[in-house]
Amino acid sequence: MTSSRFDVGAARCDLVIFGATGDLAARMLLPALYFLDHDRRLPEQVAIIGAARSALDDEGWRARVREWVRARVGEAFWDEAVWARFAARLGYQRVDANTAEDFSALAARLGQAPDRDRVFYLSTSPGLYATICQRLQAAGLTAGPARLVLEKPIGDSLESARRINDAVAEIFSEERVFRVDHYLGKETVQNILALRFANTLFEPMWNGRHIEQVQITVAETVGIEGRRSYYDGSGALRDMVQNHMLQLLCLIAMEPPSDLAADAVRNEKVKVLRSLRPLRGAQALRDTVRGQYTRGVADGQAVPGYLEEEGVAPDSRTETFVALRAHVDNWRWAGVPFYLRTGKRLPRRQTEVYIQFRAVPHSIFASAGAPPLEPNKLIVRLQPEETIRLTLMNKVPGLEDRGFKLREEELNLSLTEAHKKVRRRIAYERLFLDIVRGDNTLFVRRDEVEAAWSWTDGILEAWRESGEAPKPYPAGSWGPSAAIALAERYGHSWHE
Ligand code: BG6
Repeated sequence: MTSSRFDVGAARCDLVIFGATGDLAARMLLPALYFLDHDRRLPEQVAIIGAARSALDDEGWRARVREWVRARVGEAFWDEAVWARFAARLGYQRVDANTAEDFSALAARLGQAPDRDRVFYLSTSPGLYATICQRLQAAGLTAGPARLVLEKPIGDSLESARRINDAVAEIFSEERVFRVDHYLGKETVQNILALRFANTLFEPMWNGRHIEQVQITVAETVGIEGRRSYYDGSGALRDMVQNHMLQLLCLIAMEPPSDLAADAVRNEKVKVLRSLRPLRGAQALRDTVRGQYTRGVADGQAVPGYLEEEGVAPDSRTETFVALRAHVDNWRWAGVPFYLRTGKRLPRRQTEVYIQFRAVPHSIFASAGAPPLEPNKLIVRLQPEETIRLTLMNKVPGLEDRGFKLREEELNLSLTEAHKKVRRRIAYERLFLDIVRGDNTLFVRRDEVEAAWSWTDGILEAWRESGEAPKPYPAGSWGPSAAIALAERYGHSWHE
């Protein structure tokens, strides 16, 4: 997006993926790289080396990658010629993060081409990030333009995030660190920047004088999908709110950056995070709701409750749902609540930003016995379909004896329809290109991660101290009724 520090076309780069046999590599990372190759966007000189503990050789890993990619991209995009080109880039090195010799072997392999850039992509447990960086350094692999990519989560609290960030900073300068939040790689999320800053229409009204409330919903129908060991120690606040949802909130709430340069954008986002009113103690208990799904129905199928999922302790207090009311304490947003809601096993997959404008100051239609005017709403649906809808009050055609009959109607822009022929890209495609290019605009800076943890830590602490269990909600519902009550207490209701 901005002028690159590294020359992408000429990129001669070894991309080493740690966690190369893991779920993310299988579902997202390798399919995204294949798609880039398919579209001739992956520079010729990019090699991909899988690193993991499994005892595999190049051929063994290639065979697995072939299966993953084929299953993910489908027959429409599967092409043997592309696969042959892609497979030629793939190699595998067995690396146990705790074994120094394995890093020497990796260095020996990479050392065969010392003129190449190196990118180390860590898709392992964050507990290994510091060790891997230290071992990479000890093996002489971090000099020159080496870059480091870190998957979320960066820790599970401010303190652990700082520890990881400190250890990383000893070895990699910040501009060489790419912290992934895959929501930023989604075109629909980037389109929020276009909607706000490539149009003059909304910006003058984008503030508390004109906006009554904002809601951000990330609803999923899936459960924990075999990720118990990660999820059970994490929960919805850490898994979704601390990162994806706060990033969405930042893009909605931030001031216009001067351009798309990495620091221009990230400076504005971090100001929003630092303006979040702390949610602690009694206030946090009042303005947050956490839930845990019980047995119910999802996507038409009977599904078990969270406590019945394999491996989950029968007394687990991990939340699979969070609803909360936040405030951004600055001039633009004073007095505007931001409602955030996310959960697993909700009735449908739906990622959406809902902006409700203030009511008209005086209705000239009121005396005619008409129902109250609905306020205008801007609804940006990001998933599964991409639409931008604006509701307006309209006159219903007809001859009224007195006054007007009015109804709310929508201006509806379906971006899915408008760009029907364009393949929906995996978010990681954009992110990989930016990593190779060295552009960190769509990656999260250290201070952002820490500001986000600092805010969510307050909530986690309040929950811990209260000793309360999450409220149950049946799978297939919109969460505990307390979430509805939370919005209603302030005269609002969730948009569904
Ligand atoms: C991940 C979370 O970061 O995002 C998952 O760990 C969640 O729990 C996923 O399901 C949602 O991503 P998407 O792209 O499907 O909205």
